[in-house]
Amino acid sequence: MIENSLSPAAITDNLETSFIGRKIIYYPSLPSTNDVAKLKAREGAPEGSVVLAEEQTAGRGRIKRTWLSPRGSIALSIILRPGPDELSSLIMVASLATVHCIEKVSGLKAQIKWPNDVLINDKKVCGILIESDVKGSSVDYAVIGIGINVNLKLSSFPEITPTATSLSHELGRDVSRLDIIRCLLVETERLYLALPSGDSVYQEWRDRLVTLGKKVQVSSGESTYHGIAESVASDGSLLLRQPDGGLTKIVAGDVTLRQ
Ligand code: BTN
Repeated sequence: MIENSLSPAAITDNLETSFIGRKIIYYPSLPSTNDVAKLKAREGAPEGSVVLAEEQTAGRGRIKRTWLSPRGSIALSIILRPGPDELSSLIMVASLATVHCIEKVSGLKAQIKWPNDVLINDKKVCGILIESDVKGSSVDYAVIGIGINVNLKLSSFPEITPTATSLSHELGRDVSRLDIIRCLLVETERLYLALPSGDSVYQEWRDRLVTLGKKVQVSSGESTYHGIAESVASDGSLLLRQPDGGLTKIVAGDVTLRQ
């Protein structure tokens, strides 16, 4: 049966994690789970605490964009306290955890567009916003904010239909948000704990990027670049082969695939 509202007790019941999701801070409605998570992190919330909302009224996206999260979607933020070497890998952890869980729970095939948009049939189904507080060489906290369009009737949101989709739209039936959230907590913890022991997370993320090998336009700050998305570095940067043959490393930006 598909749940109408989320219950923190149902999420934590027999959850197979050691720290992520042990503490769930639940709101029926709030402006942004990332904003509350950052506040809780500054107040000393333990690593793995999760802020979860049925709906956000002022959800935030990357590059100062807004993010729509009405009831039926997933909006959650996970508080982590990574080492400085792990910070840049959180985009890989979060996007891989999301594709694994969408595929496991819905059976749909998901793709990652650099750096961490999750797509189904070339339309965006999930956005990820990672924010952190770094003091000198140490990370005070990082927050992984994940928004997934789960049971969203697209006809009610015409402003996003050209570029976005939802799991229910793709499947023709509703999907359990509870199953996706429980899976996300387990997968995020598994991938996060795998970071210190090698390159497996980076390698899988790189291999799953639909962006690589494609002709792209990249907006990064005030600059726009064109070229072929050749590869990604282990710190998550995009390596763009430009028409003059030069290779440019782009740390953050927004990619549009070109014909
Ligand atoms: C993007 O694609 O631009 C990122 C969207 C991130 C949305 C999530 S929803 C949970 C968390 N809270 C926010 O305000 N934003 C993130």
